[in-house]
Amino acid sequence: MTKKRRILTGITTSGIPHLGNLSGAVLPAIKASENKDTSSFLFLADYHSLIKNLDPILTHESSFEIAACWLACGLNPDKVTFYRQSDIPHVFELTWVLSCLSAKGLLNRAHAYKASVSNNELAGSKDLDKGITMGLFNYPVLMAADILMFNANIVPVGQDQKQHIEMTRDIAARFNHHYGDTFTIPEALIDDEKGVLPGLDGQKMSKSYKNVIPVFTDKDSLRKAVMKIKTNSKAPGEPKEIDDSTIFKIYKSFASIEEINKLALEYKKGIAWGNAKEILFNKLEDSLANYKSEYTRIVNDRSFVEKTLIEGSRKALEISLPLMQKVRKAVGIKGFAKLK
Ligand code: TRP
Repeated sequence: MTKKRRILTGITTSGIPHLGNLSGAVLPAIKASENKDTSSFLFLADYHSLIKNLDPILTHESSFEIAACWLACGLNPDKVTFYRQSDIPHVFELTWVLSCLSAKGLLNRAHAYKASVSNNELAGSKDLDKGITMGLFNYPVLMAADILMFNANIVPVGQDQKQHIEMTRDIAARFNHHYGDTFTIPEALIDDEKGVLPGLDGQKMSKSYKNVIPVFTDKDSLRKAVMKIKTNSKAPGEPKEIDDSTIFKIYKSFASIEEINKLALEYKKGIAWGNAKEILFNKLEDSLANYKSEYTRIVNDRSFVEKTLIEGSRKALEISLPLMQKVRKAVGIKGFAKLK
């Protein structure tokens, strides 16, 4: 029997589930988990949330909502390992070990850190590290530990996370070179075809940009959100481009090929933006309906979610414990004698 490929991905729990989470992570990961040649590790990156906010209620509620979102969208906890990062203490132990092998220069080049430094520069701050925590700086190492702890082969991520996977490979190779073969070198899986889902303003849909369309919201709020999507000023009747249209890109993520082609034709014929938004709104209402009803059921049963995650962490710990023991031994942290 050949060994199954391990696919691993996580979502930072610092906001409400949005369409970008769904089309970029949740739905493709659930689909991949149905392939019998893969085993999937899907987790709530709850300690990553502290990098972005220090609000305990936000972190807690977001963790719950994102967990319920995975389950509402069809994740089968018997088929995948579905867990909370914070339930796996080995991840944090490994983070320290990996920190000691990570070049500071490597982390200096991380996009998230560099963006914060350049914001300080633009704001004319004397201290370029103003407001930057060690959490933000070390974040790629925590992410490397998430991945290496389960010897994942494949990590599906958005384009913006590619650099972190490269860093993970670099750190794993260093460890293996110094201490002997221990970690699988993972590969990023980036869906270039669909690209990154844009938000209301056309930038990547992300809680950091405050441009998200929530998944689990009522009809009126969903319509309001869709109506806020930014468009260019082309008038009704004027042919419109699909490539730079946020409405079209979001529609593409949820519609069938026939529907996509049909809307593309309408664009050529000069559909009014208002009508295109209406079509998108109806499509979203339709595609999200089943997830929404499941979600309503699940959020009312917090103990089901809790039990599922505890069961998931039990499975995850079966892998993380022996690997951490191997790592400890490799670095020279071990008992002095076997006691009887
Ligand atoms: N940093 C990722 C994001 O913001 C979330 C994440 C944390 C992750 N750890 C991970 C993704 C490990 C893949 C693998 O999107």
